[in-house]
Amino acid sequence: MHNEFQPNGQTWEERATLDGLNSVLDPSNISIKNNLIDIIHKAAIQNVLKGKKIDNILDFGCGTGRLANLLANFGNNYYGIDITPEMVSAAKKYISQPRRHFFCFDGKTIPVEINNMDIIVSVLVLQHFKKVSDLKDIAKEFLRVSSNNGICVYIEQVGKKRDEKKFIDAFNEAGFTLCELKTVRRGRSISSWLTSKINNQESTKWITVLKMLNNIEVNFPPLTETYEEKIFVFKRIDKYCLK
Ligand SMILES: C[S@@+](CC[C@H](N)C(=O)[O-])C[C@H]1O[C@@H](n2cnc3c(N)ncnc32)[C@H](O)[C@@H]1O
Repeated sequence: MHNEFQPNGQTWEERATLDGLNSVLDPSNISIKNNLIDIIHKAAIQNVLKGKKIDNILDFGCGTGRLANLLANFGNNYYGIDITPEMVSAAKKYISQPRRHFFCFDGKTIPVEINNMDIIVSVLVLQHFKKVSDLKDIAKEFLRVSSNNGICVYIEQVGKKRDEKKFIDAFNEAGFTLCELKTVRRGRSISSWLTSKINNQESTKWITVLKMLNNIEVNFPPLTETYEEKIFVFKRIDKYCLK
């Protein structure tokens, strides 16, 4: 695989062999941290997509198919694509239902029909693009495959080391306009700290408490320097829509 798409630490191939959510979220998960992140991501996506019923939905960097069941609810056809064969095999094994299609590809040229995806979703993928030129190229690919009224929704970690502006600039330059930008979770926050102290046995009741705490935290300035996970929602700029 191209090195420019590998994360720091373990490779995507190595991560694909980890248990459950550890393969696609924090590989060194503590306690119920990944369960909480999973719930927060799904709630944020659900909130943006609620009420939409469309034809084709693309999950860019689908990993082991964590979001496939949720996303398939909004579209007639779900397409999950990923650069790592081991991730795609795991996704195929767990999510083998009709109207779900999984492909492995080169990470650059999206293998679906031009102008055909009504919604493109991507979670924790673009932040691993090391070169701004690759980010700009993939934003152009998103535009090429998105339908006239297509929207594009992604969640990425931003902060001092990862400037959110680079995501916005790349997508503006490609022909998208930002409609919504919201914090969904704060790293190194009280809820993250509390998560690490919780005994797995009691996870269900704690998840409710932690979700509430997270909702409060995202609305206040951070107490310490931290990173944030933000949801970005873009639509096509009209002049790029084919008549
Ligand atoms: C942190 S995981 C997230 C997986 C999934 N989106 C989720 O949230 O469960 C990142 C995934 O992005 C994939 N990936 C990395 N670079 C990619 C690229 N250029 N194109 C498509 N997928 C890529 C990796 O193989 C990995 O499966």
